[in-house]
Amino acid sequence: MKIELHTLRLLLRTYTVNDIPELIPLIGAREVAATTLRIPHPYTHKDAEDLVAHAQDNDGVRLAVRLRDSSTFVGGVGLRLELDHHRAELGYWIGVPYWGKGYATEAAQALVRYAFDELRVNRLYASHVPNNPASGKILLKLGMKREGYMRGHILKWGEYQDLVVYGMLNGDLKAAVS
Ligand SMILES: CC(C)(COP(=O)(O)OP(=O)(O)OC[C@H]1O[C@@H](n2cnc3c(N)ncnc32)[C@H](O)[C@@H]1OP(=O)(O)O)[C@@H](O)C(=O)NCCC(=O)NCCS
Repeated sequence: MKIELHTLRLLLRTYTVNDIPELIPLIGAREVAATTLRIPHPYTHKDAEDLVAHAQDNDGVRLAVRLRDSSTFVGGVGLRLELDHHRAELGYWIGVPYWGKGYATEAAQALVRYAFDELRVNRLYASHVPNNPASGKILLKLGMKREGYMRGHILKWGEYQDLVVYGMLNGDLKAAVS
């Protein structure tokens, strides 16, 4: 069954082929790919088809984020599942015209709850490159703790980059809301 999550302003739904025409121009922006680990650039139609094909399987869930009132497509959130360890990696991106409105935080909060309550993961984690402080702020707002700093961990566009790592356990969320 397709996943559908609602927040105050957003609707998060498993990607379908119908999302592709709105997805490509937004995710294709260089600014979006520049600070992510896995978004290809340039972003091709085949990349979008692959995303839709793997939008919901044993390896992960990938959800399109739309505004509830206008249905405008604004970005995406996802989990990479590592079920052997009851663990998932959280990722998110928002189209440049929609930055700074709290959408990434709001969408990620819904997915964090889904991961712990429905998928029953024990651990969620995420990481960002040091020149993406907005992402670090989001992860702290989600209740994650900064766990470490991995020097030269990724090769991004020909340069080694450090990663700041954040994580939380199921109990951390319960502690934060109680
Ligand atoms: C990072 C990204 C997801 C943020 O999306 P967004 O919807 O603008 O984020 P939000 O509005 O929910 O929250 C961003 C927070 O960072 C803060 N912020 C923004 N720029 C910042 C900066 N340069 N330094 C510190 N904080 C910053 C904002 O003030 C906000 O915090 P606040 O709510 O306490 O004011 C978006 O810029 C993006 O998609 N970037 C490209 C893809 C990407 O980097 N994805 C994450 C990979 S780890």
